[in-house]
Amino acid sequence: MKNQVLTFIAGFTALLALLALTYPSCKIAASTTNPPQEELALGFPKDVAKLLEHSCYDCHINSSKNAKAKTKLNFSKWNDLSDARKIARLDDICKALNEGEMPPSRFLSKNPDKALDKAQKQLLCEWTEKEIDKIMIE
Ligand code: HEC
Repeated sequence: MKNQVLTFIAGFTALLALLALTYPSCKIAASTTNPPQEELALGFPKDVAKLLEHSCYDCHINSSKNAKAKTKLNFSKWNDLSDARKIARLDDICKALNEGEMPPSRFLSKNPDKALDKAQKQLLCEWTEKEIDKIMIE
């Protein structure tokens, strides 16, 4: 009887230890596959990064489930793009904003807080223009 109790206690302790060991690593694993979006260090100005994160990263970064959006534009892979591709994407971004194509209206009807106002769109567009100039000069 005593042995059974001891075995039970030992087993229980082992289980607790296992849980304690695996729990933090689960959290670490989850955070590496899906990093906090603001950690996408792209060197974008903070105000730009914030708007993109708020209104675009739901679909246009690695952790997005929207495969179509990611093939068109994946900010997680931004720094792997050639200069020519960056320029083309920047141009597309400004156009998509001006034409009200992005974020998609279906998405906005479910997430009205993700909409960008005129000033925010302008800020992003001006940034795309500056960024294109910067790439051309380099
Ligand atoms: C709900 C998901 C979603 C959000 C949020 C979203 N997009 Fe998109 N985006 C898409 C999809 C899907 C496509 C591909 C559309 C297609 O090929 O028809 C796309 C395509 C694009 C393209 C390529 C367009 C082209 O002509 O090839 C650009 C640029 C773009 N998005 C910019 C943005 C920007 C900037 C934001 C934030 C302001 C944004 N998107 C937010 C889903 C999204």
